[in-house]
Amino acid sequence: MSKVYIRTFGCQMNTYDSERIASIFKDMGFDQSDNPEEAEFAIINTCSVREKPQIKVQSEIGRLKSVKGIKIGVCGCVAQQEGEKFLENFKDVSFVFGTDAIGRLYEIIDLVQKGERVCDTATNDSEISIPTFSRATSVSSFVTIMKGCDNFCSYCIVPYVRGREKSRKVEEILDEIKYLVNSRVKEVTLLGQNVNSYGKNLDENINFPKLLYMVNNIDGLKRIRFVTSHPKDFSDELIDAMKNNNKVMPYLHLPLQAGSDRILSKMNRKYSYGEYREKVLKAKETIPNLTLSSDFIVGFPGETDSDFEDTIKAIKEIEYETIFAFKYSPRPKTKAFSFEDNVPDDVKSQRLTLLLQEQEKISNKLLQEYVGKSSEVLVEGLSKKDKSTYSGRNPQNRIVNFKSSNKLEIGDIVNVEITEAKKNSLFGKCN
Ligand code: 5AD
Ligand code: SF4
Repeated sequence: MSKVYIRTFGCQMNTYDSERIASIFKDMGFDQSDNPEEAEFAIINTCSVREKPQIKVQSEIGRLKSVKGIKIGVCGCVAQQEGEKFLENFKDVSFVFGTDAIGRLYEIIDLVQKGERVCDTATNDSEISIPTFSRATSVSSFVTIMKGCDNFCSYCIVPYVRGREKSRKVEEILDEIKYLVNSRVKEVTLLGQNVNSYGKNLDENINFPKLLYMVNNIDGLKRIRFVTSHPKDFSDELIDAMKNNNKVMPYLHLPLQAGSDRILSKMNRKYSYGEYREKVLKAKETIPNLTLSSDFIVGFPGETDSDFEDTIKAIKEIEYETIFAFKYSPRPKTKAFSFEDNVPDDVKSQRLTLLLQEQEKISNKLLQEYVGKSSEVLVEGLSKKDKSTYSGRNPQNRIVNFKSSNKLEIGDIVNVEITEAKKNSLFGKCN
């Protein structure tokens, strides 16, 4: 059978898109392979959120072009952004397709097989329709509920590459989840750049909290997660929906980005740290055992030592279990691109290290709090390092490795007594 090699950079949205691309190739008679040497097609699914992943794309093309006879296709955010220019600049690339063009891959591949070079970055700016597709299922699966973003945070390229917010119809989402549950999926993560805006452009009377109630009703589904929420739209109604729907896991990724109100305002985030903190406190009070995670940018234009200190104060006060932190990277077209990128790179690096060091102390402390308690773990398989150990995740999305006296199946949910907390994962036993 012919083979396709797919390399994915970036966020979960890209992982989902790559799964969809794999399924379309499967439909056209191509198996997925990890080895480009045996592949007829190579697809690079790209990310442009920072400069670094964008540079990686070029080195991936450089690596692949030496493979004899391979046809290279580039998709995702860089493809969407560069379009025709990409084909002009990279002679070894045969086709470029944007984030809204995945459904047209059949025609694109047909043309490429006839020897044409193709660029399809046309977008659709209303609702999105994604037919349910089969995928190499694990017990946990991503489900896209919306695409695009209307928020225009001043540093962010997403609105320019993923376009305006577009929601997927409720029926389509529910059908896809039911299909996944029938093929042994127990947990879904609902994906959108800003899930709180879900439904705004649909005719139906629907919003994100209402969607959670509907997904919660699906028989056989055990767990629901979602990313990402914008703090300005994080509502009481959503807090109640998280509390009232037993399948919605007590884990919330709510990116703060910075602790200083001055920087938040320059980032166009539309909330102050105080407003953010108030919402988080309410969520913590309402939802038992809620854990939080966040994204942060250090070294945004004009960030002083004192602004950065506010970020450190914030992580100490909120006590996130996990954070993802990045050095500011100027992105073309964005508002902040016109601000002077005036925090020197070594200062950005120092701040990043310091932030991660402070966070490590907080994470260690919070992880220790699981020890001696019991956690419900969804079994995902055997541990990569030790085949006599099971591996899964607790409701708070933390990896738990554990021994069990009984034989377990992938997809079981078991009570594990946590005996030890290591750097990023928990260890335990199950009787
Ligand atoms: N520079 C650095 N980090 C960025 N992010 C988004 N844009 C940029 C940028 N220009 C980070 C934000 C976002 C995460 C996905 O990536 O923290 O939440
Ligand atoms: Fe990267 Fe954003 Fe595109 Fe995801 S949506 S791949 S984070 S630029």
